[in-house]
Amino acid sequence: MKKRLLIGVIALMIFSMGTNAQTNSPKKGILLITFGTSYPEARKAFDNIEEEVKKNWPDIDVFWAYTSRFIRKKLAKQGIQIDSPSEALAKMGEAGYTHIAAQSLHIIPGAEFHDVAHTVKGFSRVQKGLEKTTMGRPLVSKHEDLERMARFFTEQFPIATDDEAVVLMGHGTHHEANIYYPGFQYYLSDLSDRHYVATVEGYPSLDNVIKQLKKEHIQKVTLTPFMSVAGDHAQNDMAGDEKDSWKSQLEAEGFEVNIVMKGLAEYDEVVDIWMDHLNEVFDEL
Ligand code: CO
Repeated sequence: MKKRLLIGVIALMIFSMGTNAQTNSPKKGILLITFGTSYPEARKAFDNIEEEVKKNWPDIDVFWAYTSRFIRKKLAKQGIQIDSPSEALAKMGEAGYTHIAAQSLHIIPGAEFHDVAHTVKGFSRVQKGLEKTTMGRPLVSKHEDLERMARFFTEQFPIATDDEAVVLMGHGTHHEANIYYPGFQYYLSDLSDRHYVATVEGYPSLDNVIKQLKKEHIQKVTLTPFMSVAGDHAQNDMAGDEKDSWKSQLEAEGFEVNIVMKGLAEYDEVVDIWMDHLNEVFDEL
């Protein structure tokens, strides 16, 4: 009798251990990854994205990581602690998250995007307890993305008179994905002959675009960033008072310049594209 009871207890223990392991339910989380910005007024763009994510996934916790060490250090000195992607993934793993969908807030699939995608995808093999990690595509990587962005810019910045043009400031890169910028120009040109994209560090340059503006007899130029936030590049390289800012260069060439200081993440239509990419990889979890 006693023996049977003992066997029963042991069996129950084994059974409950087994079910315990099986009912260890998945815990899903979302990680948003961006280069980062140290401009407090530029961070409202990130708040807008977070709001959208929470609207779409009300029950899922949202975390942030900045890839830029320089910006993380600068913010740390102001008492603002922000994780790198690997720090955030490790912390989430420690906190019991088993499935993580990360979304890149980068614009093109350049060097930074690929680096961080490797980190995210490889992390499930490094961090115990993390079963699956996925990574959403940047803003423009497929035909549909480029079409949507070209439509967005031409609708958001309509041209009133024939002597007006809109010039977008992209970042540009030494990476082969820089081809996305002249590629995007084709999508823009398909809809408008008054919308241009130029880059700070790649091709096409502002000089390339100035040549086009003169050819088209443009007099008024609206400048706005083709970047997730209106941060350092937008404030200084685009709209700064220094002689070599885009605004100064255009004014020196005789153009009337109007600035729209708004990062892409501040527009819901653009955030929707990132959200669609996040949705694709969240579904894979
Ligand atoms: Co830069």
